[in-house]
Amino acid sequence: MKLLVTGGAGFIGSAVVRLAVARGHSVVNLDALTYAACLDNVATVADNPRYSFEQADIRDRAAMDRILAQHKPDAIMHLAAESHVDRSIDGPGTFIETNITGTYTLLEAARAYWVAQGRPTSFRFHHISTDEVFGSLGSEGQFTEETPYDPRSPYSASKAASDHLVQAWHHTYGLPIVLTNCSNNYGPYHFPEKLIPVIILNALAGKPLPIYGDGSNVRDWLYVEDHADALLLVVQQGAVGRSYNIGGENERSNLDLVRSLCGILDELRPKPQGSYADQITFVTDRPGHDARYAIDPARISTELGWRPSVTVEEGLRRTVEWYLANEGWWRALQERSGVGERLGVKS
Ligand SMILES: NC(=O)c1ccc[n+]([C@@H]2O[C@H](COP(=O)([O-])OP(=O)(O)OC[C@H]3O[C@@H](n4cnc5c(N)ncnc54)[C@H](O)[C@@H]3O)[C@@H](O)[C@H]2O)c1
Repeated sequence: MKLLVTGGAGFIGSAVVRLAVARGHSVVNLDALTYAACLDNVATVADNPRYSFEQADIRDRAAMDRILAQHKPDAIMHLAAESHVDRSIDGPGTFIETNITGTYTLLEAARAYWVAQGRPTSFRFHHISTDEVFGSLGSEGQFTEETPYDPRSPYSASKAASDHLVQAWHHTYGLPIVLTNCSNNYGPYHFPEKLIPVIILNALAGKPLPIYGDGSNVRDWLYVEDHADALLLVVQQGAVGRSYNIGGENERSNLDLVRSLCGILDELRPKPQGSYADQITFVTDRPGHDARYAIDPARISTELGWRPSVTVEEGLRRTVEWYLANEGWWRALQERSGVGERLGVKS
């Protein structure tokens, strides 16, 4: 397949690009190269003849028209977004512009391209979204694809809006879409402002390990390479107009997760004295911090036969090993604006 991947220089997009090229697909990576992008994430495929890169903004309709006409993809996998909840609290405007207006612009360009191609039924617009659109759970229950939307942060509200646009373009114009909503990803190339890399890198630097609130917030952790595998399955075999929840079947409270990371670091890079867990520090909670997210994976499991391959214990170990082996990658990104600062405490 020829895939146009938006946001392919980001964390998840680059995992999709690397896996798709490895599996023999042709990939056009479309990315505006915001603060969150890093072309080193795709360095392993950069010289592959089936890979090309286009620096462009999804809000730029002329650029989207030109790229679609030139590359003629069989499918668009849309991952480009502003993705950090804390930044959305401090500055929601770019989330509205990229996640909503940008998705609208890309949908319109995709529709015009699809019509010009003769409305092929095999075309796919695959929108990649988050479980955060479903809101917050108590201690029981899981999100299914039928759970009503109830977003609570500017980030999740902007993603929810984009999901609705994608569904509307299917129902109104017949655009062949598929939609996925996944849980928290983690793994190699995770930008160093997100929880897991922050914990690993602060631990190594001897800094406090910040836990928002009391650390009881629960997330379902999905190893990014498993997620990329699920996305490639959905874009090829997912039913048109259908959404699929993708989870890791690995629920952990933030505090348990951080303690696990400390245990792995104690083993792989022991401190002269004590445990990295001694650096754990509880800090002011994020405003509107959702208590728990959990995914019911029944649909993707029964209809497409997909399940995650990596347990959270194994995935965290691989992730820590990757950060220990790739210091040059993360040190460069730590210089970027806002990284390492406490964001999202305005209310
Ligand atoms: N990281 C997670 O745990 C998670 C969970 C659920 C869903 N998602 C969704 O998956 C997608 C990818 O997430 P991620 O964590 O890889 O994000 P990321 O922030 O690491 O990468 C986003 C990429 O999009 C690019 N981008 C941003 N604005 C753009 C624009 N206007 N035009 C073109 N490119 C632009 C950035 O340059 C960056 O390379 C997002 O849509 C996000 O909402 C992420």
